[in-house]
Amino acid sequence: PPGGRLIQHGDLVVAYERHDSMKAVVVDSKKGQLQNRHGTFSHRDWVGKPFGSKVFGRDGRGFMHLLAPTPELWTQVLKHRTQILYAGDISLICFNLELCPGRTVLESGTGSGSLTTSLSRAVGPNGAVNTFEFHEERAQVAAEEFKRNGMKNISVTHRNIEENGFPENLHGKADAIFLDLPRPWKVVPSAASCLITDACFCSFSPCIEQVQRTCEALVEHNFKDIKTVER
Ligand SMILES: C[S@@+](CC[C@H](N)C(=O)[O-])C[C@H]1O[C@@H](n2cnc3c(N)ncnc32)[C@H](O)[C@@H]1O
Repeated sequence: PPGGRLIQHGDLVVAYERHDSMKAVVVDSKKGQLQNRHGTFSHRDWVGKPFGSKVFGRDGRGFMHLLAPTPELWTQVLKHRTQILYAGDISLICFNLELCPGRTVLESGTGSGSLTTSLSRAVGPNGAVNTFEFHEERAQVAAEEFKRNGMKNISVTHRNIEENGFPENLHGKADAIFLDLPRPWKVVPSAASCLITDACFCSFSPCIEQVQRTCEALVEHNFKDIKTVER
């Protein structure tokens, strides 16, 4: 994390064994233990160490690394409550949304929050990510995880975006909008009201029929420079 912060009680760390074996762990300095094929690790030994440290099991032989939950790692360790977006699509989305520090981005649905953490880092502490999810428990769990990850620029709202659109207080406020919804075309009128001039809209759909309907809605609402990327 920025500033080289040291690991504390309550922090979320990624216990990294190797590239295909890692796990999110909340540090419990009082009674936390992690057991794996490399040994038994006591959380107490982790407190005060910098993120990135190599830590040894109680027998002093086996080891692993304690990494910060960056968006890249978080996508690999988060609990899947939904289908999620992965590194290749996330990179393409952030690029095409032209995200940079200070921007305001709207997202729906939040899902498991895999994309949201990358949006958050791209817009930085002076930017904002307003993410909307109509499954109440999912919204709540995502909000808790973002808080635990220290992502203060994310706000999660429980809302049916396809039926209600984005809230009116966001009209004319968004630099970028991203949708991962079953019927994204229903949200295009609201997106058009929320985006400032020369802003970016991006929608992710698994079926070409969904893409076609969304493109038609975009044309109808005067969006320009529309392109489809198939991966
Ligand atoms: C595929 S998931 C999004 C995954 C997310 N992009 C990620 O990377 O973790 C789609 C989410 O949209 C939510 N959703 C579906 N319809 C919605 C609606 N009308 N309004 C808000 N959220 C909705 C679902 O509950 C689900 O959590």
